[in-house]
Amino acid sequence: MSPKCTIDGKEYEFKPGEMIIQIADRNGVAVPRFCYHPGLTIVAQCRMCAVEVEKMPKIQTACSTPAADGMVIHTGSEKVKSAQSSVMEFLLINHPLDCPICDKSGECDLQNYSFDYGAPDSRYEEQRRTYMDLDMGPVIKKNMNRCIHCTRCIRFCDEVGGFREMVALKRGNNVEITTVDGKALETDYAGNLADICPTGSLTLKDFRFRKRVWYLKKTKSVCEGCSRGCNIEIHQENGVVYRLLPRENMEINKWWICDEGRFNFHYVNAPSRIVEPSVKTAAQLETSDWSTALAEARRRISGKVLVLAGSDLTLEELRAIQKFAADRLKECALLHFGTPGHLSADDDKDEDKILRRTSKTSNLHGAEKLGLRGWKGDGSYDSALVFRGGRAALPHGLRRHVKGAIVGVGVFPREGAGDFDVVLPGLSYVEKSGTIVNWQGKEQKLQRSIEPVGLSKGIADVFAMWA
Ligand code: SF4
Ligand code: SF4
Ligand code: FES
Repeated sequence: MSPKCTIDGKEYEFKPGEMIIQIADRNGVAVPRFCYHPGLTIVAQCRMCAVEVEKMPKIQTACSTPAADGMVIHTGSEKVKSAQSSVMEFLLINHPLDCPICDKSGECDLQNYSFDYGAPDSRYEEQRRTYMDLDMGPVIKKNMNRCIHCTRCIRFCDEVGGFREMVALKRGNNVEITTVDGKALETDYAGNLADICPTGSLTLKDFRFRKRVWYLKKTKSVCEGCSRGCNIEIHQENGVVYRLLPRENMEINKWWICDEGRFNFHYVNAPSRIVEPSVKTAAQLETSDWSTALAEARRRISGKVLVLAGSDLTLEELRAIQKFAADRLKECALLHFGTPGHLSADDDKDEDKILRRTSKTSNLHGAEKLGLRGWKGDGSYDSALVFRGGRAALPHGLRRHVKGAIVGVGVFPREGAGDFDVVLPGLSYVEKSGTIVNWQGKEQKLQRSIEPVGLSKGIADVFAMWA
């Protein structure tokens, strides 16, 4: 029989060795915390997770106190409230009144706990300390006046990033969290620092001052950046994607995402994306309308056709392409493309010891499951149809293998579409729902977060109109 403890009058089972905060989290009991993070070692530095345990004379920290059978715990007693209020007063003595101009505002633990657990007044009359902030590189903006020394960032670099990049200098009131020798961060996972920092000390340069967080609509989806398939939340407003955040999935990405995946959304709303049907006239693509562009595409696709399907497309799209090729094209070769050097799933490897995979498309393994093979960059064809979701690397040297027209269906940047005679704009991974298969063989669902940009249409709609 599992041991049991009581939290706020309710009995809960737990596994031996579990900390009080883990049992509270699993059962939806709110315990405030700054230094504790389930993905990092426990240091019990901030003292915010105070709880009262019967028969223990002093207040305990829920993050570092193992539960015991029969333990009776209180999270909201007067003693606990007084401890939390004192911790908040202490943490705020040096904190600037920055909330109105801080990018963390609206999702800041310090701000929220100050409201929920803090005292209305401060007794602090001394001068607040201030820091000069050095540049931490392209991803993170640092503002150490807001830091509460929880050390989550230091532990993240040590324990997840794999090497020491952040440190605490000096001691006491003068302590300063910074990078080693003030250098720029080198980790490919720096964006996670902004997620785990419980204050506005570390924020994303990419997102700062672009949108107040309470305006953002959130959709649970999956990253398309590589074959890992990290779980993400897409944050958008009025059809514009502002940021991607990691979503916990203990079997795939735990709590993290890499920077490459995090920032792989700018192309969606970029002005360089082709979002209107386009037809080449006099050596360059000109904006057209759907019926003209479709008629051009139908007329020009003939003879022996090379059909290239991006391994960034969903299973549903790939199946539709297979059916289209079988039903409508007399002579064709249907092959996938996406990451140079990745002709099959066997070529897909770990790129580091954390998350990133070498296949830079999300559904290479799904494409193989459907029996598609990779294009080797060979053969001679009369025309080509290229389907692309937005992430697959454009097939290099395609023009050399195709005598006639090349038609693109999907997401194409204007500067990379010089070889194309017709472009029928399609949907990126944030504009559609569908299934992808990650390197472990797990099927996951993309969820539509925004309406199609411009005149873009799904592949199924294009095929319906093709007839
Ligand atoms: S910068 Fe943020 S995460 Fe790092 S110690 Fe300060 S408050 Fe904690
Ligand atoms: S590891 Fe791959 S799936 Fe995960 S966030 Fe990075 S690019 Fe996206
Ligand atoms: S969360 Fe427990 S001491 Fe910081």
